[in-house]
Parts: sequence; structure tokens; C-alpha cells
Amino acid sequence: MIEFKNEPFTNFADPANRAAMEAALASVKEQLGKEYPLVIGGEKIFTEKKIKSINPGNVDQVVGLVSKADQKLAEKAMQVALETFETWKLVDPVTRAGYLFKAAAELRRRKFEFSAYLVYEVGKNWAEADADTAEAIDFMEFYGREMLRLAERQPLTPYPGEDNRLTYIPLGVGVVIPPWNFPLAIMCGMTTAALVSGNTVLLKPASTAPVIAAKFVELLESIGMPVGVVNYIPGSGSEIGDFLVEHPKTRFISFTGSRDVGLRINELAAKIQPGQIWIKRFVGELGGKDGIVVDASADLDAAAEGIVTSAFGFQGQKCSAGSRAIIHKDVYDAVVEKVIERVKALQVGPAEENYPVGPVIDQAAYEKILEYIEIGKEEGKLVAGGGKAEGNGYYIQPTVFVDVPHQARIMLEEIFGPVLAITKVDSFEEGINVFNNTEYGLTGSVYSNDREHLEYARTHMHCGNLYFNRKCTGALVGVHPFGGFNMSGTDSKAGGRDYLLLFTQAKVVSEKL
Ligand code: NAD
Ligand code: ALA
Repeated sequence: MIEFKNEPFTNFADPANRAAMEAALASVKEQLGKEYPLVIGGEKIFTEKKIKSINPGNVDQVVGLVSKADQKLAEKAMQVALETFETWKLVDPVTRAGYLFKAAAELRRRKFEFSAYLVYEVGKNWAEADADTAEAIDFMEFYGREMLRLAERQPLTPYPGEDNRLTYIPLGVGVVIPPWNFPLAIMCGMTTAALVSGNTVLLKPASTAPVIAAKFVELLESIGMPVGVVNYIPGSGSEIGDFLVEHPKTRFISFTGSRDVGLRINELAAKIQPGQIWIKRFVGELGGKDGIVVDASADLDAAAEGIVTSAFGFQGQKCSAGSRAIIHKDVYDAVVEKVIERVKALQVGPAEENYPVGPVIDQAAYEKILEYIEIGKEEGKLVAGGGKAEGNGYYIQPTVFVDVPHQARIMLEEIFGPVLAITKVDSFEEGINVFNNTEYGLTGSVYSNDREHLEYARTHMHCGNLYFNRKCTGALVGVHPFGGFNMSGTDSKAGGRDYLLLFTQAKVVSEKL
């Protein structure tokens, strides 16, 4: 087995790659507006009610019309998944992993095409879309290998007169609920981790990004994934989401999304339903209010660059986005000046044309972010952006507030848009305290050239993914296993060696010789 290596990112400075992306965008554009069915046990079901997926950067463009499941269809999908589980759980792990390697190879071949769908459906610029696709490939390559590793029996202490064996067996039917912001990578990672471990899946994609999930389900079918292992059932949270979460036959829920929705699902899942004979497992990765602490000893250009990339990459719509910068008073003015200069150079426009900053995902997000900008105007001093940007979509200017009090709402609440709050601290230690002062704990960065300060941060900064002297976004599968503390989730460490354990249970069989 070849050792796992991360999929390289595409260099769009190379004219051949630019041409390939332009060709993919043109070809995918021809496919926009198509209708997509539910897929239950391999059966394609078109329903009357549809989710209309639109391009957030060109709201007149329909990316696809996706059939919507009701409770009857969700129940049908559950029955198929339960039945398929009885055979899929017996398929040996090597075969299961083989499907992931085949799917990864096929996605690698169709990389530009999938990236083009991401550009149209969620407004990612080319590099962001390419990174999303590369991460999806990585997840499949990584989890396939992880399943092979788990299939090797765990060594147990030898005991005279007994043969003892521990194996990891699957759980059952899982409901997979991914977010829209990494609609290929996270959706693919959550789905394939569950299935390679021997479970069957009810995949309910995010309603703002169901087409990319439909394309992925088509890809799984094209590589021969047995029918019924992944069942594709888009639908509304209130109608089929709650129904499936509460279903007595649901064995686990793998959720990535906002704090409020995640906590609600956790609560619903904890209530035992009539006929339920297990404790449902909830794997939940939730929101973040991530930040960057800049020490007096830092490389100030690197810090400014890291702050801007972390805050405005994909319009600040990453759970890992660095939406707060906490800067030592001695270098505060210098860093602020460098940040403003860089932010003012960011151009806003359609993702298709590869602008650095594209649209936010939908009307609700647009309104919520603009509301937070108004709150920011009360709480801090506006130094860049501050409102809507031009275009036929949900465009917002990259916005920066300085001199923001430590307890301000824009310092504590997840905005999930292109809004950065900057605050001043008197000492490095105070900076770490301000960083820790939210209910979240997902990512953080420190820029410092002081070894003692870095070691202090290593111990005292409370977040699942902490970076030194680099941006706080862009975790790589296998390299930076990803997951958060506190209200940021159950710290599942996606892309890490503990992840598949969440979708298995360990069984020990002892035989007297
Ligand atoms: P969201 O909570 O609105 O939706 C997440 C998913 O839940 C979607 O698929 C949605 O359709 C579904 N959903 C909504 N209500 C439901 C219900 N009642 N029952 C079942 N499913 C329901 O989040 P979002 O807007 O898609 O994503 C953005 C959020 O996700 C941000 O808070 C971000 O920080 C977080 N996120 C976290 C991570 C992480 O790894 N921690 C990664 C990406 C995104
Ligand atoms: N895994 C993504 C990142 O690190 C969310 O940016």
C-alpha cells in the first residue's frame, strides 16, 4: 500500500491549469438547472417538491433543482439502509476500503469538474474550490487506509489457555448531516468514514448545496458502490431532519454545522424513543469564534498576511476563520495599518471570474452579516468596508473594526462572514486570556518569535487546532486532524487516526483453548 500523501493543490498560475478550469466551468455551466432525484437503494425518485439551489454570486442562475424527501420517503430510506446494513457489515474491510480508493481516483480524474460545481453552487473562488475537492480526495485515501489499519487486530496481552481477539465492528444506520461551507470535502469525509467502517448512511445534504452532494452520490454509483449503502435524501431539517434524528433505528448521527442546530440535534438524539435499544451516538462538529494573537516579537508582515487570509478566505465562511485579531499594544498600530492596506486591496466579485472575495451563501446569511456590521459600528471603529458590495448576488465588502472592546458581541459571537474585529492587549498573557474568552474553542494562531511565549500558548490557549506563525485555516487531512473544544463540538478530529473509532464499536471474543 502506498503511503498516504495529501493531494497537491492546483497551481492556477500555470496556463494549462487555468485553461482546464475555464473549460470545466464552461462545461458545468451547460449542466446548470438540471433536476436531481433522491437515491434510495439505488432507485432514483423524483418528487414534486424541490430544493432550488442557486448561485449566490448570480442569483438568477439556478444550479439545480433537487427533489425533496418527505417523512414517508425518509422512512423508506431508513428501511433500505437497515436491510443493506445486514449485508454491508459483512463485507470485508479490504473491499470496503477499495471502494474509497476507486472513488478517490475517479474524483481526482474529475477534479476540475467538481471544483467548477463548487464555484457555482457556493461561490468559492478557484483556489478555495480546488482545496475543497483535494480535501475530499484526501479523506477517502486516508479513511480507506485507516480502515485497513483498524482491520488488523489490536494486540492484546497473551493469556494462557485463551485465544482473545478484539475487532472493530460497525454501529448500524447513521444519519449524516453536513454543512454547506465545505459541501464536497466535509460531506464526503463524513459519509465515507461512516460507510468504510461498515455502516450504511442516510445522507441529508445542506439545502444550500445539494447539487454537489448529488454529483458525489452519482460518482459513488459510477465506481460500483453497492446500492443502499449511501442513500441520498435532501429535505428540510424540521420535516425529515428531526424525524431521522428521533428515529428509534438511527444508531448514530454525524453532524457538522452551527452550534444551535447541533445542540438541538444532540438533545433530540439523547431522548430514548419507544422501541430503541441503544444509546445513539452523536458526533458533532460545530461553530467557532477563532482568533489570532500577535505578540510584540512577531514578524508583523507575516502576522498581517495571516490575519487577512484567515479572516477573508471564502468570505470568512469557514468554521476555522480567524474573525478576531488580538494584538499586543507595542505593535498594534503597525499591524493594523498593514491589515487595512491588504484588506483594501481585496477585490470583490463573482467566483466564476476568480475574484479573491466572492458572495456569501444566501439571503439569510447576507442579512445576518449586515446586521453584525451595524452592531460593529456601535462597538468598534470601522476602518475598512462596512456594507454591501456591488453585484447580482450576496456580496459584502471585507470589513474591519478596530479598537473593539474584549467583551463586544463581534468579539464573542460567530458571524460567519467577511468581518474582522481587532482588539488591543497590554501583554501576551492578556492576549491569551482574551482568546480563551469565548464559549468556542476550534482554531487559533499565535504570531510570536519568543519561545517562552509560544510554549505558554501551547499550554494555555484552549482550542482543538492551534497554529504557530501561520494562518488558522487550511487544516490538512492526516497532518492536522481537525475538531474543536467546548461549544465547537465533540473534538472528533476528522482526518485523524481516532476518527473511524467514532463509527465503530470494539468487540472482544475470548475462546478457552
Ligand atoms: P447549519 O447548522 O445551519 O446546518 C448544518 C446542517 O444541518 C445542514 O445540512 C442543514 O440542512 C441541517 N439541519 C438544519 N436543521 C436541521 C434539523 N432540525 N435536523 C437535521 N438537520 C438539520 O450550519 P451551516 O450553515 O450549514 O454551516 C455553517 C456552520 O457550520 C457554522 O457554524 C460553522 O462554524 C459550522 N462548521 C463547523 C465545522 C467544524 O468542523 N467544526 C466545519 C464546517 C462548518
Ligand atoms: N478544515 C477547514 C480548515 O481548517 C475547516 O480551514
